[in-house]
Amino acid sequence: MTSKRIVVGIGGGIAAYKSATLVSRLIQQGHQVSAVLTSGASHFIGEATLLALCGRPPVSNTYDPRFPLGAHIELAESADALIIAPATARILASCAQGLADDLLATLYLAVECPVLMAPAMSSSMWAKPAVERNVDMLKRDGVHFVGPAEGWLSCRKVGIGRMAEPEDIFEALTGIL
Ligand SMILES: Cc1cc2nc3c(=O)[nH]c(=O)nc-3n(C[C@H](O)[C@H](O)[C@H](O)COP(=O)(O)O)c2cc1C
Repeated sequence: MTSKRIVVGIGGGIAAYKSATLVSRLIQQGHQVSAVLTSGASHFIGEATLLALCGRPPVSNTYDPRFPLGAHIELAESADALIIAPATARILASCAQGLADDLLATLYLAVECPVLMAPAMSSSMWAKPAVERNVDMLKRDGVHFVGPAEGWLSCRKVGIGRMAEPEDIFEALTGIL
């Protein structure tokens, strides 16, 4: 794959730590990566980690003055793909409803490139009809999905809801691009 501009949106779930590995893998393959953090994500992954891995500061503020036209507009214009990993239940709902209630959900509406989501949550959350409806809606809207997988969950249960491994997300992206 030739060098692409990839935006990696990171939601507020434990699996956010695995997104560092995904970002690193993308960078090692020669892609340019911009990271977008939700407010929840910053509880799970440090900005310094993404700054060093991406070679540019992560963005989390819709009104970031470094983007005079709006971060959602400027990041969307240059993106070849948007990956959202982990995609939390909140992100799935905001994107399905077109709520634009934070930078990542606004960026989702602004991009014209393929979108790949890697959901992660507890198995009871994943089984909720509301989550299922949102995923169905997003699939109908053309969003690509990878995972979730079955296995050990941070809530100390085994079930479906584990975020796909970074390598599987990378493979899914390769298939899409
Ligand atoms: C320890 C912990 C782990 C969490 N893990 C998840 C998760 O895997 N998936 C999820 O949808 N929400 C998870 N949450 C809840 C989200 O952080 C919360 O719903 C937040 O509003 C998600 O929005 P955001 O992704 O936009 O930050 C977790 C919360 C805590 C305290």
